[in-house]
Amino acid sequence: MNDFCPYFTNDGSIGLYSPTVDDIYHSTYGALTEAYEKFILPADFEKFFENNNQIKILDICFGIGYNSKSFLNFFLEKIFNKKKYIQNIEHNAQIYTDNILPTNEEKKSNSNSIYDDKIHTDNKSCKFSGDSACNNKKFKIFINAIDNDKNLLFISPFLKNSGKNKKMLFKNEKIEKFRKVKVKKRFKLKDEINIILLENLISNFDDFLDDENLQKILTAKQYNQFFDKYMIDLYKYKQKIRYNKTSKHGLMTFLHNIYYRYVSKRHKKALNCLKLNAIQMNFNCEDARMALLRDDALYNFIFLDAFTPSKCPCLWSVDFFKELYNHLEQDGMLLTYSSSASVRHALLASGFYVGKIYSSLSKKYLGTVATKNKLLIKYELSEYDLGLIKSKAGIFYRDENLDALNCEINTLHEKEVEESDLLSSSKFINSYKKSHNNKKEENNYGEVL
Ligand SMILES: C[S@@+](CC[C@H](N)C(=O)[O-])C[C@H]1O[C@@H](n2cnc3c(N)ncnc32)[C@H](O)[C@@H]1O
Repeated sequence: MNDFCPYFTNDGSIGLYSPTVDDIYHSTYGALTEAYEKFILPADFEKFFENNNQIKILDICFGIGYNSKSFLNFFLEKIFNKKKYIQNIEHNAQIYTDNILPTNEEKKSNSNSIYDDKIHTDNKSCKFSGDSACNNKKFKIFINAIDNDKNLLFISPFLKNSGKNKKMLFKNEKIEKFRKVKVKKRFKLKDEINIILLENLISNFDDFLDDENLQKILTAKQYNQFFDKYMIDLYKYKQKIRYNKTSKHGLMTFLHNIYYRYVSKRHKKALNCLKLNAIQMNFNCEDARMALLRDDALYNFIFLDAFTPSKCPCLWSVDFFKELYNHLEQDGMLLTYSSSASVRHALLASGFYVGKIYSSLSKKYLGTVATKNKLLIKYELSEYDLGLIKSKAGIFYRDENLDALNCEINTLHEKEVEESDLLSSSKFINSYKKSHNNKKEENNYGEVL
């Protein structure tokens, strides 16, 4: 946990910095804004759900979960039509919560009580109605989240959805400089998103409720400002219920408080989704290459959010992309923030059609999409992008057996670049500029190497 350096990014969401690699996990402009701009908005989920009611998402490099959280948020807000959805469920469905709602015995002993807030019966009769997007649809969401850092997975449901740094815990000039930039549009995560994550983590990991590292960090004073107190209480409550450590009286008082504060509000909404099996998350805590080799599912969307290619080449190699190709549905879409020529070249060499991500919010090209269906490409690669791909900048990483270390992959790559007769990226850029009268065709050249 030495590496756990949180701070509030410009949009109020929490970003992380790693002193070991001296790198940030999220854009200082806004961790949540970045997830929306680079993954959620370009995926055009509204269009997807016009013809589908089931979705499978592979979230590679889940970290503290902004991409999955933003998807769930978008889904609940824009697709599920929250108001009508909740009203309907309350009429038609019974969500019986084994841990949260009381036993009959408990109900009797608390007659005029906290438990009168009932939710009624029968999953089968549950129908969703609402606008055209969710008319009579029963949605199924499956997210497969992979990250090799278990601490990040475990911390993800406890982080505040927004706030302001009272005091930075560490000094970093790069972050300080960027923190002055103002955010144009603010997104907001619903409270129930963290509960959905918490419930899924409990059911995925036997040791989640006992994890010492997690407990240490959740109770450390210096991190206080970053954690949602309600979520921590809820976690404690789950522990108590599971191990039944409290006396009956103590437990009931605790339950009473918790019920009023969470269950009747955000928790009820989250449980509605979960108990109807609408949202299911699977967490894999290992190297994404290994996780993928054991997985035979096909996904509608793949989010690839690894550290930059030179820091984590194992997740940007042509061989890894071939695996991703085999895990993508015919009309699926892979999205990544990287605009690197070597990444785009490797995607092309793996069989994908490749295009750009354009953000109408920042009016910039911000990343790359890859698909098996050319018609899904909205913004094609330009003459400049294609030229760069053919220069040394386009030489991609190789990891034939999907088991090499990052330093080994980098060494191999450096050697290939050194021995190559291709034009260097700077020579290509200069000659391109000259032949185009020094006029910048791109408004954002982005990361090229
Ligand atoms: C840029 S951060 C991702 C941020 C994340 N999407 C979020 O919302 O917090 C990169 C992540 O890649 C993970 N990672 C690095 N190497 C990995 C590997 N070989 N397999 C799986 N995850 C890896 C790191 O633990 C880190 O969380």
